[in-house]
Amino acid sequence: MKVLVIGGGAREHALCRSLSLDPDVTALYCAPGNAGIGEVAELYPVDALDGEAVARLATELEAGLVVVGPEAPLVAGVADAVRAVGIPCFGPSREAAELEGSKAFAKDVMAAAGVPTGRSYVCTTPEEIDEALDAFGAPYVVKDDGLAAGKGVVVTSDLEKAREHALACGGRVVIEEFLDGPEVSLFAITDGETVVPLTPAQDFKRALDGDEGPNTGGMGAYSPLPWADPKLVDDVMANVLQPTVDELHRRGTPFAGLLYAGLAITSRGVRVIEFNARFGDPETQVVLARLQTPLAGLLLHAAQGTLDLEPPLRWRDDAAVTVVVASHNYPDTPRTGDPIEGLDEVAAQDAPHAYVLHAGTKRDGDAIVSAGGRVLSVTATGQDLAQARERAYRAVARIRLDGSQHRTDIARKAAGE
Ligand code: AMP
Ligand code: GLY
Repeated sequence: MKVLVIGGGAREHALCRSLSLDPDVTALYCAPGNAGIGEVAELYPVDALDGEAVARLATELEAGLVVVGPEAPLVAGVADAVRAVGIPCFGPSREAAELEGSKAFAKDVMAAAGVPTGRSYVCTTPEEIDEALDAFGAPYVVKDDGLAAGKGVVVTSDLEKAREHALACGGRVVIEEFLDGPEVSLFAITDGETVVPLTPAQDFKRALDGDEGPNTGGMGAYSPLPWADPKLVDDVMANVLQPTVDELHRRGTPFAGLLYAGLAITSRGVRVIEFNARFGDPETQVVLARLQTPLAGLLLHAAQGTLDLEPPLRWRDDAAVTVVVASHNYPDTPRTGDPIEGLDEVAAQDAPHAYVLHAGTKRDGDAIVSAGGRVLSVTATGQDLAQARERAYRAVARIRLDGSQHRTDIARKAAGE
């Protein structure tokens, strides 16, 4: 099978890595990709948001499967454009991707499906905003209704900051009850009817150690979660994932692709914080490190509506940890164009247990330079989280990137340290 992956971050590198290890994959392409993906896939400089261009490329390459990584192309209808030319595509339709594209839509689906989530108001005027903030009290949770690349959500105890963000959103704003408790990311593969959960992971959203600093796209992740209730996946399947997929099916806009449930484990039970319509980044790096089942067939079954034929997934006993190396000034105004050194040393000394997945990187002559806020996702496996952590940080220490930053506490608590 020839597979074309759309996107160019560490999530797509993780997808390409797994696909390149799948014996059923005879050719692997990526658009636009990055310097690391270029080592396992052939790169095409096509605009990921241009559905017609992606469909044309998939046709020219005779792809048997297209996998769309990021949310923006899904919300722009790229999966629909690919399916329109008769090529199976892993990724939901534009309409179903609204589950991520509009928080108000997601709340409406959850209400209809009886899915537990924070109480919320959708506000459009300053008066409604004030009433909602007043109704919930501090800490305030204010969310831009639309896609905002992780920057649309403000959680603060400062009423003025909460109001300011709500007014700055400009359009529809969702104001929500504060949900207390550890967060879990649980992904499910679905063809619109059958739902197959993957293994839970935890992401670290804040920039600095100890969950300080601004929200980011994610600074690291680990899996499995030794502290989680063993019934967590069954509970979320029964109360969140299956009812949501069923509700979208009932509405005539079935969701086929990856359904990402961002959950808070509160004292009153599991609550959905958000849905995403694609694999999470950096959680995918650790989830795929543990998945033993070949990836291409699984994604193809989801794309073709035959997921019921997929045998039960197989997982490695290993634990996995990923540490994000970000550029100077991330997430505010990340500096780019800095050379990255030490990648060869990791490959020579830490493989196969540790490896570097590229996020914002590109080739510049013989050098590889930073090209985005999150630059690398250094990933390692081990017999437990402590070993995976040690291996990941040993590899991180070999990387030289001027001004770079990373958290030093990824999976520390979960590893019992
Ligand atoms: P989201 O983009 O909806 O995932 O929000 C980004 C982050 O903001 C989440 O990972 C949480 O850490 C935090 N957050 C969002 N909604 C809530 C909430 N209702 N209560 C507490 N924290 C939240
Ligand atoms: N790691 C959070 C996300 O992918 O949205």
